[in-house]
Amino acid sequence: MLRAALPADASTLALHRFPAEADANERPTYTAWVETALKQGKYLGFVTGLERGEVISGAGLTVLDWGPTRGDPQPFRGRIVNVWTHLDHRRQGHARAAVLACLAAAQRRGSSRFSLGTTPEARALYESLGFRAGGAELGLTLE
Ligand SMILES: CC(C)(COP(=O)(O)OP(=O)(O)OC[C@H]1O[C@@H](n2cnc3c(N)ncnc32)[C@H](O)[C@@H]1OP(=O)(O)O)[C@@H](O)C(=O)NCCC(=O)NCCS
Repeated sequence: MLRAALPADASTLALHRFPAEADANERPTYTAWVETALKQGKYLGFVTGLERGEVISGAGLTVLDWGPTRGDPQPFRGRIVNVWTHLDHRRQGHARAAVLACLAAAQRRGSSRFSLGTTPEARALYESLGFRAGGAELGLTLE
């Protein structure tokens, strides 16, 4: 069953963000951040749970206070993050449903522009949802 993510799901969302055990030390910081962001409405998430409560899939959306841009007077953009499905439950449409729910929830709040960073295995899914590579974006990480 697909449902909205709650602050109580924060540690699960951190697992979806950092599924590799090598990144386990990153999870507590993200758990604390996402719990607060959910409470403040700065993060929207949807998860699919089994009847016994175990979460098997999820997707999230970080609400970016980007500022108005040409043709888009409302200030928010959405960054799709934390898309993950348990290995035993893949290719059943769970990730697609969770991403679509995030997009719809953000759209109801007025957002219409979204971005994400993809993995090779997720690219076809995102492209089938309409995401396309953008040409002009540059990045920088200062030490
Ligand atoms: C990428 C990932 C999230 C996809 O999760 P998923 O729940 O299997 O995704 P979906 O089932 O919604 O869609 C995946 C594919 O299954 C296909 N599919 C959906 N329902 C299906 C069904 N009933 N039968 C067969 N295939 C189906 C979809 O068309 C899609 O195909 P495509 O990849 O060729 O486009 C998952 O593989 C994963 O967690 N990977 C590791 C983490 C990761 O890379 N996350 C992305 C971060 S950007």
